[in-house]
Amino acid sequence: MGLQLGDIAPDFTADTTAGEIGFREWKSGSWAVLFSHPADFTPVCTTELGRVAQLKAEWAARGAKPIALSVDSVADHNNWIPDIDAVNETTVDYPIIADPDKKVAELYGMIHPNEGDTSSVRSVFIIDPADKVRLTLTYPKSVGRNFDEILRALDALQLTDRAAVSTPVDWRKGDRVIVPPTVSTEDAKAKFGDVDEVKPYLRFVAAPEA
Ligand code: BEZ
Repeated sequence: MGLQLGDIAPDFTADTTAGEIGFREWKSGSWAVLFSHPADFTPVCTTELGRVAQLKAEWAARGAKPIALSVDSVADHNNWIPDIDAVNETTVDYPIIADPDKKVAELYGMIHPNEGDTSSVRSVFIIDPADKVRLTLTYPKSVGRNFDEILRALDALQLTDRAAVSTPVDWRKGDRVIVPPTVSTEDAKAKFGDVDEVKPYLRFVAAPEA
């Protein structure tokens, strides 16, 4: 069985485009978004890694550090980065892990042999400041991810940690939120103000203050 939500994200040491890093030391108590891609110099990956670079200010605003991985070498990553920068009019300045021996990819279950070959699929792990795996996503090689959704999920994780609420379908920052079943309506009113009780089990309150 692969990594599950709530597991402690395994630590590792790896060569990256930013030199050798120890994952936990590099992360140093921040949120991290560890994501794998199948191969350098491939089309979908070129758009994905560029988008992550374009979102630099968004990761920083959330105290989150992105880090990419593929089973290619540091030399290949470094040769590819100018293409990503040029195509996406950005600067890739987050680390890309080189994992030619698949040590990290296997540790995190990023290799899905039924997906064509033994390169990594498009995995995403959102890891919290306490090094817990909080969200995982797995996309096939042919489907590019939506990093706006990953930011949205990060917002929801950070809000629900802070305010003990839940987020409804398609929630976005600032939208109303759901009172969890474990909280009484009376307590929710005291804590959040007005409660919109659509059903006894479906109660909304305004977005809590940041
Ligand atoms: C791509 O990035 O386009 C890609 C890479 C590996 C397999 C399929 C697509």
